[in-house]
Amino acid sequence: MKEKLIVALDVSTRDQAFELVKQLDGEVGAFKIGMQLYNSEGPDIVRDIQRIGGKVFVDLKFHDIPNTVGQTSRVMVRREAFMFTLHASGGFKMLKAAADSCADEAALLKVDKPLLLAVTVLTSISQDAFNNEIGLSGTIEQQVTKWAALAKQAGIDGVVCSPWEISAIRHACGENLLIVTPGVRPAWAAKGDQERIMTPKEAIARGASYLVVGRPITAHTNPVEAVKMIVAEMEEGAKAL
Ligand code: C5P
Repeated sequence: MKEKLIVALDVSTRDQAFELVKQLDGEVGAFKIGMQLYNSEGPDIVRDIQRIGGKVFVDLKFHDIPNTVGQTSRVMVRREAFMFTLHASGGFKMLKAAADSCADEAALLKVDKPLLLAVTVLTSISQDAFNNEIGLSGTIEQQVTKWAALAKQAGIDGVVCSPWEISAIRHACGENLLIVTPGVRPAWAAKGDQERIMTPKEAIARGASYLVVGRPITAHTNPVEAVKMIVAEMEEGAKAL
C-alpha cells in the first residue's frame, strides 16, 4: 500500500523538501513537486529529488494550446517525471497532443513514458462554487465523469479527482484508468482549504489507484509516524476491495 501513497512536497525551499524526502524515502511511493516548490527552486529540483528519493510526480497542471502543452509534455519525458498533470478542461486536442508527444518522445529516447494525469475539478471546489463561481451547470460528479471519459479517449493514463467521484468514474471508464485522489484527510488531520474530502481508508476502499497527501504529513510533528498511520488506514481500506 505504501507504493500508492504520494507525498505533496508543498514547501518553498530545497532544504525543507530534502528534509522530508530523507525522512520518508522508502516509506512512500513517490514525491509530488507542485508549483510552490518548482517555482521557488527551479526545474533542477526534479532531478535533485530523483537523486535522493526516487520517483517524482510533477504537478504543474498544464493548460494551454495543444502545441504548447504537447512540447512541454516532451520536456516532462526528458525530465523523467514519473507522473505529470494537465487540465482536462484544456479539451480533447490538448489532451491528445500531450499523450501523443509523450509517447513519441519516450520512444525516441528509449525511456519510460511518464503517466499523464488529467485534473478534473479541484478538490477545493464545492458544488456551490462550481455552479455559481466557475459557472458550469450540473453536478461536479457529472462533469468529472465526462472529463474522465474524454481524457481516456485522448490516450491519457489517469485522472486527478476527489475520492467522492471514484465510483462514478470507475463505472464510466472501467478499471484501467488510474485514479489519483488528493483531498485525503485522516480523521485526525485538519481539513484546511479542501472541500470534497475522504479518509485514506475510504478512498482506497472505493478504488483509488494513488492517494496524494500533503499537510497531514508535512505539517505533522512526526511525518514518518503520520505516513505509517495513513498506510495502516489504507491497508484497512484494501480489505474492503
Ligand atoms: O495538503 P493537501 O493534502 O491538501 O495537499 C493536496 C495536494 O494535492 C496539493 O499539492 C494540491 O496542489 C494537490 N491537488 C489538489 N486537488 C487537485 C489537484 C491537486 O489538492 N484536484
